[in-house]
Amino acid sequence: MAQINPSILSADFARLAEEARAVEGADWLHVDVMDNHFVPNLTLGLPVVESLLRATDTPLDCHLMIEDPDRWAPRYAEVGAGSVTFHIEAAAAPVRLAREIRAQGARASMALRPATPVEPYEDLLPELDMLLIMTVEPGFGGQAFLDLTLPKIRRARRLIERHGLDLWLQVDGGVSEETIERCAEAGADVFVAGSAVYGAQDPAAAVKSLRARAEG
Ligand code: DX5
Ligand code: ZN
Repeated sequence: MAQINPSILSADFARLAEEARAVEGADWLHVDVMDNHFVPNLTLGLPVVESLLRATDTPLDCHLMIEDPDRWAPRYAEVGAGSVTFHIEAAAAPVRLAREIRAQGARASMALRPATPVEPYEDLLPELDMLLIMTVEPGFGGQAFLDLTLPKIRRARRLIERHGLDLWLQVDGGVSEETIERCAEAGADVFVAGSAVYGAQDPAAAVKSLRARAEG
């Protein structure tokens, strides 16, 4: 079944608890952590994640777009994030990092920027619970979906199948009613959607409609 993870980056940050509850029924709530170094934007960190954990029963899918994830990612797992994603471009010791995240009881996930290939990391996949293929350059919501990422999604799906792995394949960036079917057809099964959910009149209905499209 397709999972839809609304991204609170497109929500009203002054009303985060309400905005989180507006999408109850979604599988996960996607939380974009940015440090103004790995990406040219600054969002939120551990204290806000801890508050969100108290505000909603929906598990948190924390996407860390930060330098030095080796230091910070295990902390997000420790406070209670259900899934923690680090960027491979920023990680110094990704095997150790994935193991530390899992040891704290969270799902370990690795993200690839649009120009980062998946093949060099084939041997790392068994250490992970999810692979995130960015379908825009990370940093901002509301950008246009990059079709050039579709062949990589297909190649990643083939690697997962070849190794018989139980690994979720997530896409993030520009996912909408118009693009979600392409992602699903290429092999993605977890879909992050920011503006397509929080820009809609009824965010909960947008989640349902995206899921129906992904399941085609
Ligand atoms: C971008 C973030 C995304 C963002 C997606 O760097 O990682 O999660 O919120 O927003 P949309 O769905 O509007 O492209
Ligand atoms: Zn994200």
